Amino acid sequence: MRVLGIETSCDETAAAVVGVTVESDVVFSQLVHEEFGGVVPELAARAHIEKLPSIVAKALSDAGMDRPDAVAATAGPGLIGAVLVGLSMAKSLAAAWNVPFIGVNHLEGHLLAPLLEHPAPEWPFLALVVSGGHTTLYDCRSLGDYRVVGETLDDAAGEAFDKVAKILGLGYPGGPIVDRTAIGGNASNVKFPRPLPGEFDFSFSGLKTAVRSHVQRADRGTDADVCASFQTAVVDCLIDRVAKAGRTLGRTQVALSGGVAANSELRRRMSESGLSVFVPPRHRCTDNAAMIAHAGRLHLLAGRRDDWTVRARPSWSVENP
Ligand code: KG4
Ligand code: ZN
Repeated sequence: MRVLGIETSCDETAAAVVGVTVESDVVFSQLVHEEFGGVVPELAARAHIEKLPSIVAKALSDAGMDRPDAVAATAGPGLIGAVLVGLSMAKSLAAAWNVPFIGVNHLEGHLLAPLLEHPAPEWPFLALVVSGGHTTLYDCRSLGDYRVVGETLDDAAGEAFDKVAKILGLGYPGGPIVDRTAIGGNASNVKFPRPLPGEFDFSFSGLKTAVRSHVQRADRGTDADVCASFQTAVVDCLIDRVAKAGRTLGRTQVALSGGVAANSELRRRMSESGLSVFVPPRHRCTDNAAMIAHAGRLHLLAGRRDDWTVRARPSWSVENP
């Protein structure tokens, strides 16, 4: 079964075809938001409307096909206007082609993305989804059976990266910039806190505030030192929770996904958790449609079919995908 996937939940306009392998994978990252230092929802939706038809056409032609066997699209969680664009186009295409349609939970797309790779984790496994909107640790027992083990009580990890870049005046999106700026920095030069609330939860807003107070000091040091120290503090917290959850739940594998899983230090150090680590290539960590086509395909193969009543949802727990 070859599935066309469509992703428009935030500021990436993406389409892909996934069968037994990924046959095409097209992502357009919207640039209109740069001057605002963050994603502007209405501009995102308008840019999706403009760009999506040509991105879908390219995904189909790259895969050498006119018509897929099914269409999958992100139905949430995400910016509602943005989600509506991709979801409406996916329903229209599926209706015109008379093929099955399925609405995919964006977070499930992320947490199943490591299954697109070889070797892939085997059920059950822990999944850490670290993105601009989420920092959540899941116990993944089987397809569609996920339990939240821990989550952020305030800012998401990616949000903290973006805010720290903003505080330092480095630009947007902040994650990749902080990652690059940290190269050559000394992570022991600034002592930032490592908040570890609850049993397996996260909290990054205090860390962001600590960075803000630190950079007001005369002896703040270089941006490289601040970025390296901040990044190490985030990674320490993520590793601590994964290691503890692995021990407590008896899990031996962890799958990383979401934009922050592109972070060099996180990728390098996650094995310190003592678990086998599965992490997709960088372009499958950030938003893409291959992960949506893949998640949709797994559900379609398991027999699920959605009808036209699937709604776009601004929030949607992956515990009920
Ligand atoms: O998953 P994603 O593409 O979009 C959603 O939030 O769903 O994640 C985007 C987030 C942004 O906050 C971005 O700054 C962060 O991922 N990010 C990174 C890196 N690349 C992207 N954070 C740290 N290091 C990176 N290399
Ligand atoms: Zn995402």
